[in-house]
Amino acid sequence: MAMDYIIEKLGGRIAFGGDYNPEQWPEEIWKHDVALMKEAGVNLVSVGIFSWALLEPEEGRYEFGWLDRALDLLYTNGISVDLANASASPPPWFSRKYPDSLPVDADGVRQSYGSRQAFAACSPDYRRAAAALTTAIVQRYAGHPAVVMWHVHNEYGCHNQPDFGPHAERGFQEWLQRRYGNLEALNKAWGTAFWSQHYYDWAEILPPRRSGTWVNPTQQLDFARFSSDALLECFNAEADIIRAHSKHPVTTNFMGFNMGLNAPVDYWRWSGHMDVVSNDHYLIAADERNFQELAMTADLTRGWAQGKPWLLMEHSTSAVNWQPRNIAKAPGEMLRNSLQHVARGTDGVLFFQWRASRAGAEKFHSGLVPHAGRDSKVWREVVELGRALESISEVAGSTVKAEACIIHDTDARWGTELDSHPSEDARNLPETRRWHDALYRAGVTTDIRQSTDDLSGYKLVIAPMLYLVTDEAAAKLHEYVEAGGTLVITYFSGIVDQKDHIRMDPVNGGGYPGAFSELLGVSMEEFFPLRSGDAVGLSRFGSGTVWSELGKATGAEVLATFDDGGSPAVTRRAGSTGRGAAYYVATSLGSAGLAELLQLLCPDAGVEPVLGIQPPEDVEIVRRSNGAKDWTFVINHSAQNVQVPLDGVELLSGTATGGTLNLTAGGVAVVAAPA
Ligand code: GLA
Repeated sequence: MAMDYIIEKLGGRIAFGGDYNPEQWPEEIWKHDVALMKEAGVNLVSVGIFSWALLEPEEGRYEFGWLDRALDLLYTNGISVDLANASASPPPWFSRKYPDSLPVDADGVRQSYGSRQAFAACSPDYRRAAAALTTAIVQRYAGHPAVVMWHVHNEYGCHNQPDFGPHAERGFQEWLQRRYGNLEALNKAWGTAFWSQHYYDWAEILPPRRSGTWVNPTQQLDFARFSSDALLECFNAEADIIRAHSKHPVTTNFMGFNMGLNAPVDYWRWSGHMDVVSNDHYLIAADERNFQELAMTADLTRGWAQGKPWLLMEHSTSAVNWQPRNIAKAPGEMLRNSLQHVARGTDGVLFFQWRASRAGAEKFHSGLVPHAGRDSKVWREVVELGRALESISEVAGSTVKAEACIIHDTDARWGTELDSHPSEDARNLPETRRWHDALYRAGVTTDIRQSTDDLSGYKLVIAPMLYLVTDEAAAKLHEYVEAGGTLVITYFSGIVDQKDHIRMDPVNGGGYPGAFSELLGVSMEEFFPLRSGDAVGLSRFGSGTVWSELGKATGAEVLATFDDGGSPAVTRRAGSTGRGAAYYVATSLGSAGLAELLQLLCPDAGVEPVLGIQPPEDVEIVRRSNGAKDWTFVINHSAQNVQVPLDGVELLSGTATGGTLNLTAGGVAVVAAPA
């Protein structure tokens, strides 16, 4: 059961709508809401996400009247509902009654209620109350004909992760006992011989609260893993209650790449627990290539969904309210953003939120219905988007095929975000972004997966800064090359094991990158990180930033050397079976250098851009297919009109291209053709 269940319930149409918060408005407004929803073609709304305080005015007493009436109204108007279990934000009465359910920060400061998500993941009172509320809601609405899907909680960990309080302390100790079995194993794993950190009693172990200087890095990593698992227990407990009463799919909305060490939620681990993978994405206004960041996030979401269609649960029609400067979207930008997500695998385009609020902290956040009402750019574009989605309904259920893949492992990312490292610039996420951007510019569709997934179908696999790698994952990557794949590994990869211990041989030595030195045919002896803003010249591929190294090739062909010192900067080692290759890139290449390297790599791996040609600058070309029919999405983010050789019927306009697609600046096209 997955997105196809929802699409069937929606009569074969792509999901379109967003968070609907009728409780923020007088009931006489609701009939206007549904009339407008019908005008725009909205068919799915998420209801009740932040309704706990109104649904349960005091413990165990529920008031469902308003929600009954809202759901009935939506149903009679043909609008389906993704119903929340409302556990996202406990009401003030709850926090006042159970003050120790509030989360505590690394300095030991207990957070207050008054915003949202004010609870500690391991609080027994929160868990009991959330379960009771979920039971009450699902018992009442499992049979309601408007409901087609369940929305558990909202953006887990957005504001309360991690919690360092007493409940987390106990939970962490229990989690560690399950992981390590005995203290000797824990002491070994955490390397506690260092700085006199040996533990003699489980009760001595704390969350990594603020200390004089760096807290044990393995403790930090394990705490991130534990914190993610603690929230996942919350999700699973509530999802299990729902599944016991209802057959509709259950999801919770993820937050793209916002899953770092400081707010740890390991979506790779979580995604297997979702019936439908759903994600929220917001453009960062200050990011000049935010459309590429959107594409990268959509590719990641498709990875979590194992290549199947997923659901865009939230994005914005225009400005948000939580950035330093909240830039409104330019005309046409919302359509481009929406269809970028569809091109990359969503079968739904939902927004936060239906009607822009009148009160509260998000009153300056855009909605489908802006403060200005119907006579507005936003509303006209919402109606246009509804029509566009209707005209491409046939795309639902199809998938995206990628020949290239980027590895983005949670532990590797968290590992590079630890303190006391060679350079604070050596972080997994920015390096991942550089590689994705290079492939994006080259027009190569790219999946994002974790190293333990099945990679055998990819011609090219890129592992940017795979700092932490398990023996199992390292062996899989070796096998991938042996089987004829082309693998790229960058600097600061294969450095530590899952305990964050350096991969090395204390007797015989052996160079970096420990797990991959043999596979790559290089042996590096010392890191030479660069000063901020400095670059190091290379004999080819321009220059590098962030990082350089001292070392030698032991079996690889050297493609480029560092000008400073002459050590290898880019190398290639042919697979031992004569097929496949393993490349090493020992610095952070600029976009020109990466483009030059891809001109070598892609033909070597046999990877092609979607139309066999590099797209015009800032034009995105992605294809979905169901085996019988292809849909090629062409999205022009540039200020130039462009021409692309592409034959078929353009569905938004309903006209045949006649072999060449002419696309205006900022325009979007979806061209259907037999596969
Ligand atoms: C998140 C939340 C929403 C809302 C939006 C605003 O995605 O899930 O409730 O706060 O951000 O952008």
